[in-house]
Amino acid sequence: MKKIVILSITTIAMLTFSGCGDKSKEEGAKSAVEVAKDATTKTVDAAKNVAKTAVDKTKEAAAATTEAVKETATKAAEATKEAAAATAEKAKDAAATATEAVKEKAKEAATATKDAVAGGNDKGKAVFAKCVSCHGSDGKTKALGKSEIIAGQAAADIEKKLQEYKAGTRNVAGMGMLMKGQAGPLSDEDIKAVAEYISSLK
Ligand code: HEC
Repeated sequence: MKKIVILSITTIAMLTFSGCGDKSKEEGAKSAVEVAKDATTKTVDAAKNVAKTAVDKTKEAAAATTEAVKETATKAAEATKEAAAATAEKAKDAAATATEAVKEKAKEAATATKDAVAGGNDKGKAVFAKCVSCHGSDGKTKALGKSEIIAGQAAADIEKKLQEYKAGTRNVAGMGMLMKGQAGPLSDEDIKAVAEYISSLK
């Protein structure tokens, strides 16, 4: 009986103790869970932060890349524009040079045509008919042994000289009055035509 009572007390005591132990164990477990929870929350937060930072950095990098691409494109467009402008300028220059060359050729052709016309200058030839007795039919005779040879002189020079004889202001070999008699009756048109004719005599 005594033994049973002791056993019972021991059992109760054990139960009580173990109950106490269970309680503290439970609390321990609870705080461990809390700590674990905390740790998990922190880890998740940290991971979240890292992810956010990574996203931000990626965004920034993308923005920078876009900017760089934009700049490169702008620069390329600018360079293309400049190259096009330079090409246009060169083409313009070439066109101008070509135009100048064509103009020059046209001028030469016009002069040649004029010469040819002067060669067949009937009016000038008709006027010259009364000059040949002294200057020769080819204009290469020194009139009365005194004048210059008139064939081939520049038409403008001959025209000027004839106008001066007509006005009585030219007298090279003392025969200016004689030539005034020759040039006097000629109209400006006659003088121009005969000057061109004489100039064409080669
Ligand atoms: C009777 C002869 C005679 C006749 C005709 C004559 N000339 Fe002359 N010509 C002369 C003499 C002489 C001179 C030099 C005059 C002088 O002293 O400036 C001269 C000078 C000229 C000169 C200047 C030459 C020079 O370079 O200095 C021209 C141009 C000229 N004659 C054109 C003509 C023309 C054009 C005609 C016809 C419309 C003509 N002559 C008819 C005798 C003549």
